[in-house]
Amino acid sequence: MFQLTRSVTWQSLLKLREETANDRIRDYFVRDPERFNKMSLRVGGLFLDYSKHQISDQVLDRLLELAHHSALVQRRAQMFSGDIINVTEDRPVLHTALRNLGDTPVIVDGKDVMPEIHSTREQIKRFSEAVRSGEWKGHSGERIRDVVNIGIGGSDLGPNMACRALLKHRHPELNFHFVSNVDGAHIQKVLRGLNPATTLFIVSTKTFSTQETLLNARTARRWFLEQAGEDADIGAHFVAASTNRKAAMEFGIREENVFEFWAWVGGRYSMWSSIGLPIALAIGFDGFIEMLQGAWEMDQHFLQAPLEQNMPVLMALIGIWYINFVGAETQAIVPYDQALHQLPAFLQQLDMESNGKSVDIFGRPVDYKTGPIVWGQTGSNGQHAFFQLLHQGTRYVPIDFIASLKPEPGVEDHHFALLTNMLAQANAFMEGSQQGGDLDPYSCPGNRPSSVLLLDELTPRNLGALIALYEHKVFVQGVIWNINSFDQWGVQLGKRIAGEISERIDERTQDFDASTQGLLSLVREHFPASEKSSASTAKKKGSKASR
Ligand code: F6P
Repeated sequence: MFQLTRSVTWQSLLKLREETANDRIRDYFVRDPERFNKMSLRVGGLFLDYSKHQISDQVLDRLLELAHHSALVQRRAQMFSGDIINVTEDRPVLHTALRNLGDTPVIVDGKDVMPEIHSTREQIKRFSEAVRSGEWKGHSGERIRDVVNIGIGGSDLGPNMACRALLKHRHPELNFHFVSNVDGAHIQKVLRGLNPATTLFIVSTKTFSTQETLLNARTARRWFLEQAGEDADIGAHFVAASTNRKAAMEFGIREENVFEFWAWVGGRYSMWSSIGLPIALAIGFDGFIEMLQGAWEMDQHFLQAPLEQNMPVLMALIGIWYINFVGAETQAIVPYDQALHQLPAFLQQLDMESNGKSVDIFGRPVDYKTGPIVWGQTGSNGQHAFFQLLHQGTRYVPIDFIASLKPEPGVEDHHFALLTNMLAQANAFMEGSQQGGDLDPYSCPGNRPSSVLLLDELTPRNLGALIALYEHKVFVQGVIWNINSFDQWGVQLGKRIAGEISERIDERTQDFDASTQGLLSLVREHFPASEKSSASTAKKKGSKASR
C-alpha cells in the first residue's frame, strides 16, 4: 500500500531540507531578481506574495510534484460534484454548492440540491429585507434594533467574524451581538441593556442540540418572557438557522422562520448557508451575495488554475514544507486590519478542527505531522506582545500577514502606518539585524518566513474570496495528508463526557478517574439539583445528534 513518507518525492524533500537548511531567504533574492514576480500572484482582489519563504525553486518543484502525485485533482472534483468524501460521516461536503450562483446542478443522492439552496436564499432575502426595512415588527409593533446570534463553533465564528469585518457596511439602525459561551456571564452581559420588544434572536445551530446554544437560547427566551412577551410572541423575536426543523419548532419558532441548511454543510464551513443570516441582516442580502460571489470566484480559480499558479494549493504546500520538513509546529495569522480581529479565531477552528487528525481516511495511524497549531492576533498590537518571541525566540513560526490596501477616508495616515509596519515586520523577519555583526548575541537572526496577502479593499467579495482561499488551503493539506478534514470525533468525545458528568454528578460514581471525582465533589457543593438537571437535559438531547 502507498506510504506517503516512503514516496520518492517525500524522500527527496527530506534530502532537500538537509541541503537547504542553512540557506538565507535574502540570498534567494540576490540570486534571482525575478523572485518576487515569480513568487507572487493575483486572484481577483487578492494578491499573495510568497517569495519570503525558505523555499528554493527546487523545493517548490518537489512540493508541486507532491501535489501532482496526490489524489488532489480527483478529490477536488469529487468534493465539487457531491461525492461522499466525508467518509466517516458518510456524506458529501458541499459548502461550495452554497456559493454556486449559476444554474449548474449539484446532485446528492440522485437529486439536484440547487433548487433547495435557491429557495433558502430567497427566504434569507425576504427576511433580511423585512428586518432591515423595519417591515418586520416585534410583538409590540416596533422595528428590530438589536440582533443576537446564539450559536457556538461554526455557528458563531463565521458570521461573527464576517459581521465585524464588514462593520462599515452594516445597517445603521441595527446592532449585532454574538453569544456563544455557556458561561452565563456572556449572555447576561449581552441581554443587559437590550429592549426585548426590539430584539431579534437567531438560534444558530446545525443540530439544535448543542448544550451551550440550547442553554443560552432558553435563557434568552426566559428573559424575553419575563420582561415582555407571552409564548405567542416568541415567533416574532426568535428565528433559527438549523437542519433540525422539528426541534426548532418545539422551541417555539414558527416553521416559516426556520432557515434550513443541510447535513452536507460542515459547521466550520457553514457561513455561506443560513448560518450566514446575521451577515445578510448586517450588510444586506446583496452584500451577502457579493460575499458568495467572491468565494465562488476563488472556487473557480481553485478548480481551474494549474497547480503551479493555484493560490490555495501554493499556500497549502508552503504549510506542508514547514510542518513536515522544517519542523514548525504552529502557523501565525496576523491581520493588519482591526476589522479582521476575529479572523485568527475563525481560521483556528477551520484549520485545527479540520486537520487535527492522526489517522488517515482508512483509519490507519499516520507517521507524519498534520495540521498546525493556528494562532494569532491583529498587528500592530501583536508587535508589542508576541513578536519578540518570533524575532528572537527559539521557535520557528511561519506567519501569514494580511491587510487591505485601501485606506479609510479620514484616517489615511493611520492606514499608511499600519501597512508600513506590516511590511517592516515581514522585512525584519527575513533580514534580521546585524548591527553588532554575527557575534552580537542580541542581534535578530532573521531568516524567518512569511507570506503577505493583500486585499485591494475589505469588501464582502474580497472577504468571501479570502475565506474560500483558506478553506481550500486546508482541504489541499488534508488531501495530501490523506486525512478526513470534515469530521471532528475529538470534539464529540468532550461533548459526550460533559453529558455523562452532568447526568451522573449525584451518583458519586467511581467510573471517573480519582482526579475528576475529587474535583466533582468540590463542584457538587455549589449546585442544587434543579440547576444541574436543566443543564443535563440539554446534554441528553445533544448526545445523539450528528454534526
Ligand atoms: O465544535 C464542534 C461542532 O460540532 C462544530 O463543528 C459546530 O460548528 C459546533 O460544534 C456547533 O454545533 P451546532 O451548530 O450543531 O450547534
